[in-house]
Order: sequence, then structure tokens, then C-alpha cells
Amino acid sequence: MQKPILLSGVAPSGVMHIGNYLGAISQWVAMQETHSVSVMIADLHAITVPQEPAALRENTLRMARLLIACGINPEQSILFVQSHVPAHAELAWILNTMTPLGELERMTQFKDKRDRQSDTYAGLFNYPVLMAADILLYQTDAVPVGEDQKQHIELARSLAKRFNNRFGETFKIPEGIILKDTGRIMGLDDPIKKMSKSAASANNYIALLDEPDEIRRKIKIAVTDSGADVAYDEEQKPAISNLLRIFSAFSGSPVADIENRYRGKTYSTFKDDLAECVIEKLTPLRARYRELSADKESVLAILRAGAARARASAEKTLRTAQEKIGFL
Ligand code: AMP
Ligand code: TRP
Repeated sequence: MQKPILLSGVAPSGVMHIGNYLGAISQWVAMQETHSVSVMIADLHAITVPQEPAALRENTLRMARLLIACGINPEQSILFVQSHVPAHAELAWILNTMTPLGELERMTQFKDKRDRQSDTYAGLFNYPVLMAADILLYQTDAVPVGEDQKQHIELARSLAKRFNNRFGETFKIPEGIILKDTGRIMGLDDPIKKMSKSAASANNYIALLDEPDEIRRKIKIAVTDSGADVAYDEEQKPAISNLLRIFSAFSGSPVADIENRYRGKTYSTFKDDLAECVIEKLTPLRARYRELSADKESVLAILRAGAARARASAEKTLRTAQEKIGFL
């Protein structure tokens, strides 16, 4: 029997942090056992805010290495760069013609990003439509993402339904998969906002490539809550609750066990142990990344092969959609 299809994506930016890893990427890695997985490096999405060409090229390659270092297995899964598959832009155009403006105006990520730019371009506004095309082209069953992508997945579902109703069954209706405990990891310096690579300070996040001393330093200065107990309470203790969720995800122990272990101990003991746990998990990943950095050609070959496989399935869906619409 055919395995269910998983597709997800990440924009190529300089940093990938433990929020991306715990919320999204570790799900993709784990689901390679049960799903047919495609992971897309979303460079068409990246250019919705201005990018320096040399940096974009370098970041795209770095992201490919990082994803492989995280455990995306290119022999099993499809790892590709979005701009290498022209069908994404083509289907996005078609979907744009059936997306109500009001639905895009409601997108909270658009409003956030717009407020942080001096100029806003149409691409940023249409970004969720491109994301819908990414998903629908592969007849995707499962889209594992962090919570910030929930609204975008809802749009992909509603566009698929709208198209199917008007032109007949064409697209599978995808399901978003968002983890309850790690779908929204909060910033270390501000536990009320999500961890984000565009945060003002690098103390907001732990990057997957941060060196051990950097990880110790960032966790040591991470904001804590009033009181002294290491206890899970999202309302009263958002900072400690976030650290507990991170500890639990990296160690595999339930939050309640970790609370028990640190009953009567100080925040600082808890933080020291958390830092060592994160370091232990990220050290092999950093080593694999370094190995891959020595061999640019093999990473390029993986991306070339990935694009060829992705193109084959994407084009099939695109042709069907074009025929249904009435293109000659
Ligand atoms: P991005 O870096 O924005 O391209 O996001 C890549 C993936 O990581 C997406 O699925 C996001 O939803 C997810 N993600 C980003 N930030 C966080 C966070 N703070 N907590 C959990 N998941 C996140
Ligand atoms: N918009 C997603 C993000 O910022 C990245 C992305 C692009 C994506 N296309 C996708 C995720 C398709 C899932 C499916 O994180």
C-alpha cells in the first residue's frame, strides 16, 4: 500500500533554531518511517522580504546541509529547492485567481511581517497562496508545522475545496499536524513571544549550530519567573514552563517527571542540567553539518535529484488542474 504523503517546508535563512527543530523538523524526521516525505527549501517564500543574492544562495545550501544533519535522509525522502520546480509558481497563479482578498487580509503572519518592513510588496501578501500551491501539488495528506502556520494551512484546505467544488475532484484536502507541547516554543528572553530567528537579539533563541558555551550562556541568562519552584504553570510561570517543555522534548522525559526531579532545587541547577541536555542532543548534529560542509558537490547532487523527483509529481497535478480549468 502507498504510504501517506507528507510535505513541509522551511524558508532558507541564516539560522535554524530549536523552535524550528522541535516544532517542525523533528516531526518530519520521525515520520520518514511511516510517510512518503518531501521537504522543500522555500526560496520563493524567502524573497517575499528583500534578500541579498549571495546570502540567499549560501543560506539555501546551508539549509540543505542542516536538514540532512537533522536526519532528513535524502535516499529515502525528497529534499528539494522550491524554485527548481516551476509548477509551484504556476499553480500559485491559478489559485490566486480564486483567493478572496479578505482571507489574505486576515493573515496574522502577513500583518506582523508588514509591520516590520519599511515597504510591503504584493508577494508578501500572496505568500499564503504560494504555500497552498506547495501543499496541493503533491496530493499531500499531512503537513507538520509549527503553530504559526495554522492559518496558512486552513487557507490551503479551503482553496482545495473551492477548486474541487467548481471544477471537480482535483486536490486532496491536507491535514495540518501541530504538536501540542512544542508547536510554539517561546523566546528565551521573552516567554510571551514565540522563539524567532528575526528576534532583535540572538539571546532569544538557541541556534542548532550554537557552540556548547554559547548554549550554556544563553540558558543561564534566559528569563525566569518570580518564585523559586521549577513548576509547570503556563499562566503564572510562562518562562519556566517553556524551559520545561524544551527539556522534556530533548530528553524524552515527561514534564511531570522533570518537575519531580527538580522539586526543592534552584532554577540555576535546573538550567545547568537543561543546557547539558540540549548540548548532548545538538553536538552530533553539528558534527554532521561540518562533514557535509566539506562536500558541496554531493549536497548539490542531492538537491538536483530531489527536484527531478518533485517535478514529476508536481507536474502531474498541475496538468490536471490546467485541463480542468479549460486551458488549451
Ligand atoms: P520558518 O523558520 O519560519 O520557515 O519556520 C519553519 C518551521 O518551524 C515552520 O513549520 C514553523 O511553524 C516552525 N516554527 C518556527 N518558529 C517556531 C517556534 N518558535 N516554535 C515551534 N515551531 C516553530
Ligand atoms: N511558510 C512556512 C514557514 O514560514 C514555510 C513553508 C512554505 C511551508 N511552503 C510550505 C510549510 C508548505 C509547509 C508546507 O515556516
